Amino acid sequence: MGFCKDFLWGAATSAYQIEGACREEGKADSIWDVFCRVPGKIDGRQTGNVACDHYHRFREDVALMKKLGIRAYRFSISWPRILPEGTGFVNEAGLRFYEKLVDELLKNGIRPFATLFHWDFPAALQRQGGWLNPDSPLWFEEYARVVAKRFRGKIRDYFTMNEPQCFIGLGYGRGEHAPGLALPRNNLAIAVHHVLLAHGRAVRALRQFGGDGLQIGMAQCGKIWMPAEETPRDIEAARAATFSVPESVHDALFSVPLWSDPVMKGTYPPEYLRRFEGCLPKITEEDMRLIHQPVDFYAQNLYHALPVEACGSGWKTRPFPDGCVRTSIGWPVTPDAPYWAARFLYEAYGKPIVFSENGMSAHDTVSPDGKVHDPDRIDYLRRYLLSLRRAARGGVPLTAYFLWSLMDNFEWTYAYRERFGLIYVDYATQKRIPKDSAYWYRSVILNNGENL
Ligand code: FCB
Repeated sequence: MGFCKDFLWGAATSAYQIEGACREEGKADSIWDVFCRVPGKIDGRQTGNVACDHYHRFREDVALMKKLGIRAYRFSISWPRILPEGTGFVNEAGLRFYEKLVDELLKNGIRPFATLFHWDFPAALQRQGGWLNPDSPLWFEEYARVVAKRFRGKIRDYFTMNEPQCFIGLGYGRGEHAPGLALPRNNLAIAVHHVLLAHGRAVRALRQFGGDGLQIGMAQCGKIWMPAEETPRDIEAARAATFSVPESVHDALFSVPLWSDPVMKGTYPPEYLRRFEGCLPKITEEDMRLIHQPVDFYAQNLYHALPVEACGSGWKTRPFPDGCVRTSIGWPVTPDAPYWAARFLYEAYGKPIVFSENGMSAHDTVSPDGKVHDPDRIDYLRRYLLSLRRAARGGVPLTAYFLWSLMDNFEWTYAYRERFGLIYVDYATQKRIPKDSAYWYRSVILNNGENL
């Protein structure tokens, strides 16, 4: 047995990266709209103003998904499209857009997985301090309530947030992503706590107003370490590294347990409390109960992992060898990553595992025959999916896999330079061309991964 018989083969996108229609029908600025206007932040001074124009072409995009046999679609809802000021006034046109999208998906037998927050925080609320504001968990709860009520009976699967590691680590820590802040340790600890509280409040609101039987989780991207060699000592070293909280604040923000222990266990990792002593906000038992709402799965976005080897009673990273294979964005290709991620995360948290993102960017071009041949992507996906199948065969409950991305899109600071899609997008004409990998993925789906 490999993948379970109702395994969900999916593809993923996010609102700012594909929708465009940045000021249409009542949508207000998100922090990414603002950030893109700051000179020097985005490759080629590009923006997501038009992106893939999915806002106007979603029917064509759903038809393509159907043609490719995709069973589940992970998309995100733009908070400032629904609540232009972040709270208060609800923009009916924004809700209607997502309703049409969801109806179209359901009509085509594709299961919608909605992410409430994939980085496009309302600019109006950023002006009030963003995630540093003690009211931010309440703002997010209000937004979750609006979505839950409207999509009751239609959306059953939710991710509250995408990659807190990145939107706090890169957005508030390193200043590389919107809103471009580089805050000190104590402020970062405040933001972390508010984000976690916001997640908890959103889970509660979704369950209260979103109908019965919802499946909810948070899409994380904590750093995964894998054994350099498959020996008991290296495996132990990799496990220890994966669940450690490093001393440097920037590394700590990318750790698995900092975000996952509070959500999955209701406690901050003791290592974090020790390292951040004196820099922590007030954390009450009630806060921790709120953060620790029951969730249904553990979702991991995964592109690569880092090899680690045992060293005395500790561990040390093994550098990637010279010339190791990298994708066009420069990320190493590490096909064993899904196996170790699935195994470690399941052992630690005991929930079914969802791979909420995985894929690669490549130098895709339209060939003279009018097609897009992307053998590297097929090779990458085959290796990663074999590793995932190994985890399934080894007894890890895996429920879904979302390929990043359904189509080429606005890759944040890299803008349109990096192509992650199964579907090629010609941005000048908005023509879509499924790449070879898209047809290959279709056959994998049809065979439930048995033909890998
Ligand atoms: C992830 C993001 C996603 C996309 C991929 C390549 O970190 O969640 O939006 O940028 O990386």
